[in-house]
Amino acid sequence: MEFNIAVLGGDGIGPEVTDQGVRALEAVGRAFGHSFNLSYGDIGGISIDKHGIPLTDETRGLLDSNDAVLFGAVGGPKWDSPDAKVRPEMGLLDMRAHMGVFANIRPVKVYPWLAESSVLKPHIIEGVDLVVVRELTGGLYYALPRGRRETPNGIVGEDTMRYTEGEIERVVRVGFELAMGRRKKLTSVDKANVLECSRLWRAVATRMGEEYPDVELEHVLVDNCAMQLIQRPASFDVIVSENTFGDILSDEASVLAASLGLLPSASLAGVPVVGQRSGGLYEPIHGTAPDIAGKGIANPTGSILSVALMVRYSLGLTEEGAAIERAVDKVLEQNARTADIATEGTEPVSTIEMGDRIIAAIESGG
Ligand code: NAD
Ligand code: IPM
Ligand code: MN
Repeated sequence: MEFNIAVLGGDGIGPEVTDQGVRALEAVGRAFGHSFNLSYGDIGGISIDKHGIPLTDETRGLLDSNDAVLFGAVGGPKWDSPDAKVRPEMGLLDMRAHMGVFANIRPVKVYPWLAESSVLKPHIIEGVDLVVVRELTGGLYYALPRGRRETPNGIVGEDTMRYTEGEIERVVRVGFELAMGRRKKLTSVDKANVLECSRLWRAVATRMGEEYPDVELEHVLVDNCAMQLIQRPASFDVIVSENTFGDILSDEASVLAASLGLLPSASLAGVPVVGQRSGGLYEPIHGTAPDIAGKGIANPTGSILSVALMVRYSLGLTEEGAAIERAVDKVLEQNARTADIATEGTEPVSTIEMGDRIIAAIESGG
C-alpha cells in the first residue's frame, strides 16, 4: 500500500531522532511491501528563523493533506527569551489544536534488560506496563484569559484552567476504552481537593464508570500520584489526566523505563482503532535536548516507537507496528545502548548506529 506522511523534525535533537524514525518507517515498508511519500516541513524555531512564525500555512497544509504526521520536538535557548513575541512551542500547540488531537497516548514499558540502566530498584520497576492518556488541547495550555499585562499593582501574568464536560468526557473515554483492552484498571488523576475543574473531572469520570462496570476506576490526587508512580508503578494500568498534570507525570514515568529518550506518543482525535486508517500526530515525549543537540548521541528509540504507533493507529498496519516494537526489544536485549541508557562497561552507540541496529532487526523480521 501507499501512504502520505508529513515529517516535521523541528529543532535541536528533533531532526536527529526523526531521521531515524523515518528510516524505521522505510525499513518496515521494504519488509512488508509498502511505500511512503514523505513531505518535509518546518515547525518551531527553525520556522521562526526562516519565516518569522512557528507554524506557516504551508506546514498547516501538510497537516491536512497527509495520512499522519511524524514530529520531532521544538524549542531551545535561542528562542527562549521571556520577552519573545513568538515562541517555537506556540507552533506545536497550534498544530495540536489544528489537528484536534485531544488524546495524547504515552505508553510506558519497562524492558527487563534495561533494569541496570534505571536509577530505580529492579523489584520496584519489574512488570511495569502502563499508559498515560494526557488531555492535549485544553486546560492551562489553551484556555483564555491568558497573558501578561501592566496593572497598578505591577505586572500580572495569567493562565486559565478551564474544562468543559465534553472535553473531559471524550478523553476519559479514551482512557476507559484503552483499559478495556488491557488490564481493566483506570486511574483518573486530578486535584479535586482544590480545583473546580478537577471536581468536574472527577464527577464526569465517576459517571462514566457506570458505562464501564468491568473497569476498576480509582481517583488519585496528582501529588499523591506522582509519589505512587515511583512507589508502586506496576500497579498502574491506564492513567488519564488533564493536560499539565499529564505532561509532568509522563516525564516522571519515563524514569521507570530508564530514559526520557525511550518514550513514544500518539496524539489522536478519538478512541484509537487498530487496523483502520485515521489521522494522527506522532512524537517522542522528550524535547529538543539542547544539552546534547548536534552531538549525534540522542536516543532515537522514542521516535522509532512513535512510528510503530503511527503505522498501527493511523495506517491500519498492525503487524508492521509489532515488527518495529519487536526490533526495538531485540536490540535492547542485545545490549545496544545510546549514552542515556549505557551502563558501566558498555560502549555507547550513536543515534545513527542505534537506528542502524533497529533497522537491521526490522529487516530480519524483528
Ligand atoms: P528535554 O526533554 O529536551 O530534555 C530533558 C533531559 O532529557 C535532557 O538532559 C536531555 O538531554 C535528555 N533527553 C531528552 N531526550 C533525549 C533523547 N532522545 N536521548 C537522550 N537524552 C534525552 O527537556 P528540556 O531540556 O526541559 O527542554 C528543552 C527544550 O525542548 C525546551 O525549549 C522545551 O520547550 C522543548 N520541549 C519540546 C517538546 C516538544 O516539542 N514536544 C517537549 C519537551 C520540551
Ligand atoms: C511535550 C512538551 C510540550 C508540552 C511543550 C514543549 C509545549 O513538554 O510535548 O510534552 O508541554 O506539551
Ligand atoms: Mn512535556
